[in-house]
Amino acid sequence: MAGTIKEIKKVTTNTLQKMKASGDKIAMITAYDFSFATIFDAAGIDIILVGDSASNVMAGHVTTLPITLDQMIYHAQSVVRARERSLIVCDIPFGYYQSNSDIALASAIRIMKESGANTVKLEGGEEVLDSVKKIVSAGIPVMGHLGLTPQSINKFGTYVVRATEEQEANKLRKDALVLQEAGCFAIVLEKIPAALAKEVTESLHIPTIGIGAGGDCDGQVLVMHDMLGINTEFKPRFLRQYLNLSEQITGAVQQYITDIKSKDFPNENEQY
Ligand code: KIV
Repeated sequence: MAGTIKEIKKVTTNTLQKMKASGDKIAMITAYDFSFATIFDAAGIDIILVGDSASNVMAGHVTTLPITLDQMIYHAQSVVRARERSLIVCDIPFGYYQSNSDIALASAIRIMKESGANTVKLEGGEEVLDSVKKIVSAGIPVMGHLGLTPQSINKFGTYVVRATEEQEANKLRKDALVLQEAGCFAIVLEKIPAALAKEVTESLHIPTIGIGAGGDCDGQVLVMHDMLGINTEFKPRFLRQYLNLSEQITGAVQQYITDIKSKDFPNENEQY
């Protein structure tokens, strides 16, 4: 019925492009399930990333490497069901795009078809160029990811700040341009010096989303478990922790246990 349906303006890759042009910062957060994604979408987040960090925070693995494409699709399906407004980006996990561009395209198509995510994200620069081009040419928007790329942790050997040396910084500058040229709609810059992130951001016409890359990126992303204080072990310098949910949940669950043991719960108003 005309006039009764509330129009919600969905965030698209074009919206992000306009935000970069107007200087409006882009807010992105990870989510892996329907309930949290519903809260984040309603709170007004621009992008929800179904990150392969699910491998760590949802499945308890030490790295992002073990998560499978089927598992990522399951998480993305749950997040997509919550979407009213935000753009949903889903990571292509390790092993599903590196070997060749046909495999990369097949993985991206599975994510889009089976989960309903709006876009995919993959890690790397020149080495994944053919895959990026092939996915983009199939009409699938691609977000790049440079700097600390966790799927390459076994090559790096450590999670320290990347591109502090000129050679690696130069490769990153070049990779950013190459990804833009290949059609990426945005690039995540993870754990690199703020001055380099600023320079790269200014050199691109597509938005950059930083995590540990300073305040001059066009947007910021944090892993929900880190910023909500669910995961309290991980305290890098770049993290701002907005809640201490771990403490609050522990208190609530301890109270629940006490109430059950003391026969306080359920009381007569909480039964039929
Ligand atoms: O998987 C993830 O959560 C990510 C962010 C850290 C950018 O890639």
